[in-house]
Amino acid sequence: MKILVTGGLGYIGSHTVLSLLENNFQVVVFDNLVNSSEESLNRVMKLTGKTVTFIEGDIRDASALDKVFEQHDIACVIHFAALKAVGESSNIPLSYYQNNVFGALNLLEVMAKHQVHNFIFSSSATVYGEENEIPYVETMKLGTPSSPYGASKVMVERIMADYAIADPEFRGVSLRYFNPIGAHQSGEIGEDPSGIPNNLLPFLAQVAVGKRDKLNVFGDDYPTKDGSCERDYLHVMDLAEGHVCALNWLNDHSNFNGVEAFNLGTGNGTSVFAIIKAFEQATAIKIPFEVTPRRAGDLPAFWADAHKATTQLNWQATRSLETMMVDTWHWQSKNPNGYL
Ligand SMILES: NC(=O)c1ccc[n+]([C@@H]2O[C@H](COP(=O)([O-])OP(=O)(O)OC[C@H]3O[C@@H](n4cnc5c(N)ncnc54)[C@H](O)[C@@H]3O)[C@@H](O)[C@H]2O)c1
Repeated sequence: MKILVTGGLGYIGSHTVLSLLENNFQVVVFDNLVNSSEESLNRVMKLTGKTVTFIEGDIRDASALDKVFEQHDIACVIHFAALKAVGESSNIPLSYYQNNVFGALNLLEVMAKHQVHNFIFSSSATVYGEENEIPYVETMKLGTPSSPYGASKVMVERIMADYAIADPEFRGVSLRYFNPIGAHQSGEIGEDPSGIPNNLLPFLAQVAVGKRDKLNVFGDDYPTKDGSCERDYLHVMDLAEGHVCALNWLNDHSNFNGVEAFNLGTGNGTSVFAIIKAFEQATAIKIPFEVTPRRAGDLPAFWADAHKATTQLNWQATRSLETMMVDTWHWQSKNPNGYL
């Protein structure tokens, strides 16, 4: 079975391609390299001993996508390709809507033209917005995220829902990721942010490896257990395996049509201070940090209700916080400059 993975060179995409290969799926990766390097795929192929077809291209380019579907018999598309920096999305909202919304639309149109109906979308916990209570459950209404990035994810979910009503053959799965961290246990692939990392773990790992002086903790006066923000961190390999479960679910539910959303998280919130402590314990490296003012748009705490994925997808995050820390450090210390 051949799977088209857009954005398959990126952080979550590369780990998912590895899981797909390990589960005997054939993979075609389509990526424009805007936030990644081909080296991730070289390493995935080395780790698995399997080959992947790589096509450099942009999801906004319908003719490039057309060629992919003409040349390959694609059974399902897993759609990672997007811009993902929440802060940046407020500075360049049009680029975010272009890539994330128009790109997804374009892809769905080309899929429709080629009669490909199976679509797994990289959504995010951010679609629950600010108004829903925690833990987030899939039955909640989509919220109003504060960033253009979050809004772009809500828009694509809405497009999928409308499209599913109009095209009874469409079979969409929206995977709402919580906070993926860590790396493959080999330390060969991991998160390689360009510039200053936006997320906690890549920043912390760069402090640990000596590339940055100290970690900023944005606010310690939130209404949480220790005053810092709490998030639902899950190991990126657990998340990757969630995509294999989603594919199997689509295959097992041949009569399914429509769109189904699943949270992929652990169901637990962990604070920034707890992450620092866990990293220090797992690696015996001290992390200098400074508490700085809150960051605009950060919610105090959120985590998943992960029951639906457990009962229906047969998926559960199994790797511990300690493993997430050890694997983050393994990747960062082995590749202090990422893939370069
Ligand atoms: N990392 C997270 O914490 C997180 C959380 C929730 C959702 N997501 C979503 O998961 C997906 C993957 O995230 P990631 O962390 O692996 O990001 P990433 O930036 O590492 O990977 C995205 C990949 O898509 C490619 N890409 C971007 N725009 C493209 C375009 N127009 N055409 C072709 N390729 C394009 C990039 O080059 C990159 O390889 C994204 O859709 C993101 O919004 C990520």
